Amino acid sequence: MPGMEIRPARIEDCPRICELINYYAERGRMLHRSLESVYDALREFQVAVEDARIVGCVAVDVFWSDLAEIKSLAVAPEFRGHGLGRRLIEAALADARKLGVGRLFALTYEKEFFERVGFEVIDRDTLPEKVWRECFQCPKCDACDETAMVRRVEGGRANGEGQ
Ligand SMILES: CC(C)(COP(=O)(O)OP(=O)(O)OC[C@H]1O[C@@H](n2cnc3c(N)ncnc32)[C@H](O)[C@@H]1OP(=O)(O)O)[C@@H](O)C(=O)NCCC(=O)NCCS
Repeated sequence: MPGMEIRPARIEDCPRICELINYYAERGRMLHRSLESVYDALREFQVAVEDARIVGCVAVDVFWSDLAEIKSLAVAPEFRGHGLGRRLIEAALADARKLGVGRLFALTYEKEFFERVGFEVIDRDTLPEKVWRECFQCPKCDACDETAMVRRVEGGRANGEGQ
């Protein structure tokens, strides 16, 4: 994928970001997002672009002094399995590092992928309660089967540092 660019999302990208996320949401692989919520979170998103078409996206949502979540990671079906997911994770790590965030976590069905890109499984109860605020919107709220995973951000702020 030599011509592929990963860049911060722009306003005109939002409908396509929403389409990509909801393609997988309809298949039970990730949480649905409204177009409004994508506009709200526009500054959190980066997109992968090839031939002026968005073929991947990822968002970094800051939670607390040393913790942010990787959200809405999606690679267009025809681009999966070629390293783009890894590149989007690297872009999210760079974003987190720039912000000074020390740890990134994900709630996911893609445990093996996240392990391949440096995350490890953690006990979900160790995440702050604030993490679960969106769960009330999820149909699986009472029977969540996602895996909680975390990765340190090299060059980010260590846990509690400077507080
Ligand atoms: C998960 C997803 C982002 C991975 O993107 P991708 O571009 O296919 O992944 P990559 O090609 O970058 O794979 C990176 C590594 O993970 C491995 N990997 C990817 N998916 C895997 C899977 N389902 N099982 C095991 N390993 C997997 C690859 O083999 C590769 O390993 P390597 O670099 O050591 O050779 C993509 O499949 C996707 O969009 N899935 C649907 C949406 C989703 O579930 N998003 C996650 C929400 S938390």
